[in-house]
Amino acid sequence: MKGGYPNYMLKEIHEQPEALRSTIIPRVREGNLPDLSKDGIPHNILDNVNRIIITACGTAMHAGLIGRVMFERLLRIPVTVEIASEFRYQNPIMDKNTLVITISQSGETADTLAALRLAKAGNAKTLSIVNVKGSSIARESDYVLYTHAGPEIAVASTKAYTCQLSCLYLLAFAFALEKGRLSEEDCSKEMENLLQIIPAIEKTLTFHSLAEDISRNLKDCEDLFFIGRGLDYALSCEGSIKLKEISYIHSEAYAAGELKHGTLSLVTEGTPVIALATQANVYSKMISNIREVRARGAMVILITNGSDLIDSSICDYHFALPYLAGDFAPFTAAIVLQMLAYYTSVGRGLDVDQPRNLAKSVTVE
Ligand code: F6R
Repeated sequence: MKGGYPNYMLKEIHEQPEALRSTIIPRVREGNLPDLSKDGIPHNILDNVNRIIITACGTAMHAGLIGRVMFERLLRIPVTVEIASEFRYQNPIMDKNTLVITISQSGETADTLAALRLAKAGNAKTLSIVNVKGSSIARESDYVLYTHAGPEIAVASTKAYTCQLSCLYLLAFAFALEKGRLSEEDCSKEMENLLQIIPAIEKTLTFHSLAEDISRNLKDCEDLFFIGRGLDYALSCEGSIKLKEISYIHSEAYAAGELKHGTLSLVTEGTPVIALATQANVYSKMISNIREVRARGAMVILITNGSDLIDSSICDYHFALPYLAGDFAPFTAAIVLQMLAYYTSVGRGLDVDQPRNLAKSVTVE
């Protein structure tokens, strides 16, 4: 059942290249362009849409944070990401010109389902990204884009998350093509780059020994920080929840520019800081933030897209991810974050698949 792996989480981490292949490849048509017609998603779904709301819980919501950056960058339509359990009680503003995207692995999360029902009652168009076929969220949405991640058994979501990201990228490219915001040529380049994530993830999975080594230094710490900007901040949120839920170590995700507005006082000699610096547009800003934590004695684990590093003295450990052109580093960086959480939990002798107090599918409020 576990395919020779000691637990489901490790199996599912390693299944990501295959899960992504199954999710992306059927949606690529001739000319390397996105094609969502077989999913029944009309090409003109964004007609009259002036606002997108993405709503979900936990890891699925973190995928939405990345989706937001991609949609706004490519479409220039305002996008908000709402925690479903908050959204449903906030009397949200929406109408027939709003597209509400719900994201859920199980398709049964009570708050996400309630958010979807609220969106329908508010006349919004609804589209869901769901893994479990025929689940309640899939059945009740106007349109469904399935992730083909296969069954995810471990409580901590891994392959469903990266497949959710791939669906958000596919939507962003398909919408941008339809809206004339990407030419066929540029869209096809983006799709080629999207396909490149699969071999890049295969390569990233070979960094498991480095993740295991580092986790020996993380397993006894009490607090740690994940920092990043833009897409990397969204990823920091995901890295932090993954570590917390299976290792029971307290951690926080911080937008790196916010450190000096309070959090820096918590960084002392030896505090682990996992710094994500995969985004070229804010790379130099990230390096200054890393110097700030370094000056307070932090143990820095740095993750970069490619191996360029102006100054190796700014970190204790460095994951140089296989270089990906464009905005695709979240896929490979996510793998590193999953491996760090996984090996830290295993190093603490915990049950990685079934962390205390948590259930795979949260069908109650
Ligand atoms: C964390 C995790 C949870 C789920 C959340 C939503 O690793 O798995 O945060 O992402 O409970 O679940 P779904 O996606 O089934 O709606």
